[in-house]
Amino acid sequence: MPIVVVVGGQWGDEGKGRIVDLLARKARVVARYSAGNNAGHTIVNDQGEFKLHVVPAGILYPDKTCVIGNGVAVDPEVLLGEIDGLQSKGVDTSRLVLSDRAQVIMPWHCELDRLDELARGDKAIGTTGKGVGPCFVDKVARRGIRVADLLRAEDLQPRVEAALAYHNKVITAVYGGEPLDADRCCAAYLEFGKRLAPFVGDVQDIVLTAHRRGDYVLLEGAQGSLLDLDHGTYPYVTSSVPSSSSSGAGLGVGIGPTDIQRVVGVFKSYCTRVGNGPFPTELFDDTATMLRDHGKEDGRGEYGTTTGRPRRIGWLDAVAARYSVRFNGLSAVALTRLDVLDNVPTIKICTAYDLDGETVETLPARQSVLERVKPIYEELPGWQTQTTEVRNFDDLPRQAQAFIRRVEQLIECPVDVISVGPSREQAIIVNPIF
Ligand code: GDP
Ligand code: IMO
Ligand code: MG
Repeated sequence: MPIVVVVGGQWGDEGKGRIVDLLARKARVVARYSAGNNAGHTIVNDQGEFKLHVVPAGILYPDKTCVIGNGVAVDPEVLLGEIDGLQSKGVDTSRLVLSDRAQVIMPWHCELDRLDELARGDKAIGTTGKGVGPCFVDKVARRGIRVADLLRAEDLQPRVEAALAYHNKVITAVYGGEPLDADRCCAAYLEFGKRLAPFVGDVQDIVLTAHRRGDYVLLEGAQGSLLDLDHGTYPYVTSSVPSSSSSGAGLGVGIGPTDIQRVVGVFKSYCTRVGNGPFPTELFDDTATMLRDHGKEDGRGEYGTTTGRPRRIGWLDAVAARYSVRFNGLSAVALTRLDVLDNVPTIKICTAYDLDGETVETLPARQSVLERVKPIYEELPGWQTQTTEVRNFDDLPRQAQAFIRRVEQLIECPVDVISVGPSREQAIIVNPIF
């Protein structure tokens, strides 16, 4: 049975949690493979609304094994808080497994995230401030602390001392900040280790055993491909690999590229971005306000799940989307928030960029160029009818069908799932993914 990866196709918050929740019905294992609690995945079902930051979306089903892979950066305090929160809502968390190889977000990572951003001034990236970037820097610098280290003082103490010997110099000498105390860090993190110990297990074995037994496995991406360290709008990106390239999904749970059969990209019917960085189709007018505040009265407007920041809004950028389809090797697209366009009289799709009079059909690598390009739009008539109750493609208004068909053409990938609302059942399955 296939291993299916679900990735964000744009700049994050496309509705990955919602789509994983939908697809997880048939899966045995759901695994997070990258990023940390910079992610915020919203799931709405008959038990209520859940905002997950580290725990995989499958946890809301009673029978799925949910794993946090080695590729994830884990803040133990956040994870334990999330587990407590789920338990207090009656969710069984005993099926959660945490890789002993996952990197740990330590107090100096959060402090460095804050200090790095302050030092960047008006060039700040607009990070979520959760310490995820500095944690991945330590991983690459081979200075990181892993979940396995939290389980024994003799493993943790020397690694914390070594890391702080370096970071305290940076914090004090470079930034003029306060040094952190190694003993206090160790004591606190050994306590976290004790509480996390029952969840620690062999993630690779769980994923591969399920796969070989013929069970479906879902790999839940975080962030969006345009925030990808390699392929995204660098340097305004995150510090990990949200895309499905073998360096992302497979690596993050310990499997090879040949084990992955399908990659589903989640795209909004328009675009959003939080944090700074180029966004060619960004809107600053009444349409942006209308799209941002759709559902705001129910707490469902375009405001960050993790930080509460208003999301920047723009029309669907087919140039960036096609690029994302290509480098992710997408086999299908799940198009979300179609219903948010229900009242829009004219819908625009960016089909190319204008760069000083020249037409550009690929995403420029240079930040200064990407900041300068002007979107070339195609206009389509809106449908101006409610789609939230529609469950079959043929029952969608003619204009909505035409919009989706045009998106497929432009981004070179079939739209197999259409989401017309945040709840589990508000979906149109054009072609089953499983
Ligand atoms: P993620 O980070 O990709 O999981 O996305 P977020 O949860 O941060 O943001 C997506 C938001 O859109 C959440 O509030 C979802 O409940 C909501 N959502 C997902 N799909 C739909 C949809 O088709 N229609 C509407 N109206 N809301 C949706
Ligand atoms: P989900 O999984 C949207 C953005 C931040 C910032 C940049 C770097 O919910 O889609 P970081 O804290 O990662 O160093 O910040 O990446 N970012 C996200 N934007 N959704 C996310 O996750 C994001 N995770 C990080 O806003 O621009
Ligand atoms: Mg989100």
